[in-house]
Amino acid sequence: MSGYKEKNNVLHIDGVSLQEIAATHGTPAYVYSADVIKTQYDALAGAMQRALPANQQPMLCYACKANSNIAILSYLKSLGASLEIVSEGELRRGLKAGFKAEQIVSTGVGKSDSEITACLKAGIHQFNVESIPELENINRIAGGMGMVATVVFRFNPNVSGGGHHKISTGRKRDKFGIGEDSIYSTYQMAADMEHINPVGISMHIGSQVCTVETFKTAFETLPRIVNTIREQGHKVVRLDIGGGFPIIYKDEKLLDLDHYAEWVRDIILPLNAEIIMEPGRYLVGNAGTILTEVVYVKETSDRNFLVVDTAMNDLIRPTLYDAYHGIEAVQNRDAPITKYDVVGPICETGDTFTTDRELPKMERGDLAVIQSAGAYGFCMASNYNTRPMPPEILVKDGTAHVITPRQTYDDLLGREVIPDFLK
Ligand code: LLP
Repeated sequence: MSGYKEKNNVLHIDGVSLQEIAATHGTPAYVYSADVIKTQYDALAGAMQRALPANQQPMLCYACKANSNIAILSYLKSLGASLEIVSEGELRRGLKAGFKAEQIVSTGVGKSDSEITACLKAGIHQFNVESIPELENINRIAGGMGMVATVVFRFNPNVSGGGHHKISTGRKRDKFGIGEDSIYSTYQMAADMEHINPVGISMHIGSQVCTVETFKTAFETLPRIVNTIREQGHKVVRLDIGGGFPIIYKDEKLLDLDHYAEWVRDIILPLNAEIIMEPGRYLVGNAGTILTEVVYVKETSDRNFLVVDTAMNDLIRPTLYDAYHGIEAVQNRDAPITKYDVVGPICETGDTFTTDRELPKMERGDLAVIQSAGAYGFCMASNYNTRPMPPEILVKDGTAHVITPRQTYDDLLGREVIPDFLK
């Protein structure tokens, strides 16, 4: 029984009662379905298998910024994924999860010296370079280590994609990538550097890209770029086409993966290079929920507030991007419908998951889930208001596995130091 389904008026995840998970592990808690992750991975890999020849399958580099739990990484690795990282921390997570360094690509506009050094030492597949200063720095560090760094350049196609302006990355004004005005000279510069081996181009136009034709528009900019670089006498043997696939939060039109794969076949494949993809949200987003308990039902003359025990520190997306997340009652699902503002305990009005949401009538102690929280959920959580981080639980084959225990107050307070002058 895969995914989130109702049984005897109680919501279950992969056949396990969320009520039981709450009783055993407490709330709030992030809960993930291993089956949903596998379904998503297979859907993406399957579409590519249908469209592309067996010997030209893409390297599916999971963008682990979406959910970097080491168990989730390890599970995706077991399904066949490679990895995209954006920090030394994510490199360490990837290696700990068992990825081989040559399965890892490093992206980001601000790669630090220690991160570049760690990636070179490990022997990663490539750096996706975003600027000339970064290129010069990688050349310098690789030189000091007596190495040659393999790089691709992130091309900024000036094609806007992304479900919110804060997660659109492909516009000329964005901090990402290198525009056509300087990509050719940068490639030439790289080819002339002793410790750099330029091998291709990358692109990532944004996240939760719901206007799916945008992917095609962005792809269509690549043949000109690749051909011009080749005419300059350089090799282009890798094309990293990024991530950004949308998931369902409310009523989004999903990307037809077969269409996407056909665009890859028709536009990217003829360029005859190794294809890399960087899906994040698509693989894990719909697999996760936050399980939460109602602390109080507060009725005012104006509104009905459902004050729950999770908050914006656990899931920042509604506050940060005005993001919609589905909310469902876990039990008593057939109770009469009432309108609620669902809010957390944090001392900000912004700590609101939704307003005027129709939900079955709930009482103190009832459970609910906030849906589609598997991506950019726990990994963006904080300790704001000195709230311990919730546990992460992965359900697989009818068993709930704790993959991150709830943070204790000792964990939370123990690292801070009162200096001597205050003693
Ligand atoms: N590759 C690069 C270079 C990226 O910057 C990203 C996401 C991805 C791949 C994966 O994109 P995805 O397939 O997950 O859309 N915190 C925001 C999303 C930020 C995305 C950042 N970059 C949110 O909660 O919506």
